[in-house]
Amino acid sequence: MTTTTPGPPALRTAVGTARTRVEGREKVTGTARYAGEIPFADLAHGWLVLSPITRGRIRDIDTAPVLAMPGVLTVLHHGNAPRLYTDYVGMLGTPPDPAAVVFQHDKVPFAGWPVALVVAETPEEAREAAETLAVTYDREPHSTVLTADDPDAYPAAGFMPAATEKGDLQGRLASSAVVLDEEYTTPEEQHSMMEPHAATARWEGGRLEVVDSNQGAGWVQSELATLFSLDASSVRVRSEHIGGGFGSKGLRAHQVSAVMAATALRRPVRVVLTRRQTFSLAGYRSPTTQRVRLGADADGRLRALDHRSLNQTSTVYEFVEPSAGVARVLYDADAHRTANHVVRLDVPSPTWMRAPGEAPGSFAIESALDELAERAGIDPVELRLRNEPETGPVSGLPFSSNNLAACLREGARRFGWANRDPRPGIRYDGHWLLGTGMAAASFGAGAMPSTALVTAEASGSYTVRIAAADIGTGARTALTLIAADALETTPERVHVRIGDSDFGPAMIAGGSMGTRSWAWAVTAAATELRERLAVTQDIPPEGITVRSDTTEALGALAQKERHSFGAQFAEVAVDTSSGEIRVRRMLGIFAAGRIVNPLTARNQLVGGMTWGISMALHEEAVRDRNTGRHYSPDLAGYHVATHADVPDIEADWVDDHDPDDPIGIKGVGEIGIVGAAAAVANAVWHATGVRHRNLPIRPDRVLAAAALPPSDSGAADA
Ligand code: MOS
Repeated sequence: MTTTTPGPPALRTAVGTARTRVEGREKVTGTARYAGEIPFADLAHGWLVLSPITRGRIRDIDTAPVLAMPGVLTVLHHGNAPRLYTDYVGMLGTPPDPAAVVFQHDKVPFAGWPVALVVAETPEEAREAAETLAVTYDREPHSTVLTADDPDAYPAAGFMPAATEKGDLQGRLASSAVVLDEEYTTPEEQHSMMEPHAATARWEGGRLEVVDSNQGAGWVQSELATLFSLDASSVRVRSEHIGGGFGSKGLRAHQVSAVMAATALRRPVRVVLTRRQTFSLAGYRSPTTQRVRLGADADGRLRALDHRSLNQTSTVYEFVEPSAGVARVLYDADAHRTANHVVRLDVPSPTWMRAPGEAPGSFAIESALDELAERAGIDPVELRLRNEPETGPVSGLPFSSNNLAACLREGARRFGWANRDPRPGIRYDGHWLLGTGMAAASFGAGAMPSTALVTAEASGSYTVRIAAADIGTGARTALTLIAADALETTPERVHVRIGDSDFGPAMIAGGSMGTRSWAWAVTAAATELRERLAVTQDIPPEGITVRSDTTEALGALAQKERHSFGAQFAEVAVDTSSGEIRVRRMLGIFAAGRIVNPLTARNQLVGGMTWGISMALHEEAVRDRNTGRHYSPDLAGYHVATHADVPDIEADWVDDHDPDDPIGIKGVGEIGIVGAAAAVANAVWHATGVRHRNLPIRPDRVLAAAALPPSDSGAADA
């Protein structure tokens, strides 16, 4: 980048102005290098061997024939790999997923479990040898099917309380004028990021260096240091460009096995996951089965709300998909009960996936609200406005700001909702049945402690260093604008460096908290630097650097309900003779705090909404109950929405501001997917008169429903 001629900059005008990505040119010209394509001298290549059996033990691994193959350097497995230290809780409050801590024992807890790493001179040689490696197993019976009434299900907390309860649920349900009791299911969904996981590990000058694709360089660095019992300062993780993460890019088998191999061979080793391997090794969104019971007065005011969710987890790791949590924010009722349950099956460990909890939870609760509106004869937008909570329904805490009503009203106005005929199944366009639907959305708005370094260079420019991750969100660009405003300079004079654990502890790109957390730290350091520069005559050759740490400031924040909100609207066309559903248009209006960069924020919101269409209509990873393995674990078998599936989507926002944030940010990473699938499903009901309570709404489900008498819409779920 060149430094522009210093002129009188307009003060603090960068935030809120649309900016293309600062690394956009590098990305579109291919000069931005991703973890799997950075060259290293003397690089060796590892290929993971995964278990084809679903449960059992490794009896034998016959390495001798493979070690004699061309280019093969070593084979790592539980018989020769170093033992790792795993008895800890990591920076996100969870122990390491045993699926990432490879080769520690002979047990196989699920299909696709890593059993060996073959390392060779070239990826082709490693792959050939990995496919040749003979591993014999002792098989045990397995169970991989999630069922709503599994007796082994138990309440589980994860990152929020397992259950909340107030009031007399049965009593309130019994005395309600309108009641509803329905089950909703969502399938296993895969992150399907563009760039699969990749890491290169090497020892350099007594330090372990890992070049990786992850959502937090410092996060992976601290986990690797602990696992390998290394001093934290002797481990460096870099992660410059990342082709999507969505929750899956934390500590995984590829980094751990690459470090083992680099240590054993004393040369750089790269391990890349194939698309198929990501299906069992990179986490996924668990299927959910959810029961929602609602009771309301004749005017639609909720008296009883009960949301229970169940998800599966592996036998070796507990992950809770907290789908019942969204009702703790959106709706109050005299009797209010929510609970998240899990059951352990012989399946891979699930993990965070974009809007964990809210995405599947909002499908259930927002479908249920639509059904309640239908039964009560109340407009769905009006029903939600009547049930706006004054304070947190469970916590009783005040909202930092809650502009859901503004989103609902603005969305309804722009979508043309006022003219909607509520009757289902009556609008035709040729052979297409047309319908519209909507849903509300919320997602937590938090911030986590971070540190940042801001340097005033002798040249007159500024360098920001923070271990942030830009997983495609535009975070690097957002931080450039944030720093420019805090320094009262122009974005052209600010150079933001991210993705390096040596920059100090920082929040990961996750929980819609990345940009807000990093912006807070960058603003704090930049503000102090600007104050120091005001009384400093000369900048020394090494520049002047200020370091910030937001731990204390965040600790002093008052307890409040802090959330982004949104209103999603969709119009669909359904061909009941082919089962095809086309989304014709979609509008999302959000209250997501101050928008730092309208261009990349819109990108995030539209991306989330697109994923909502995909979730409603396409995405489903299917497992064979006999083998315990996926059918077609690849992008041919796992369908995601592509351009032809996506209509003109509009995302916009209302004025919103977190009053306690130095910049007013809330976060836009996840709110876009919340409610989107429900809006589409509700539109399908409005088009056809049939409720689809199981995602995705596949053509065969539409056809099966069309064959039923219209009054029996519930049976379409079978
Ligand atoms: Mo996200 S699921 O917090 O990466």
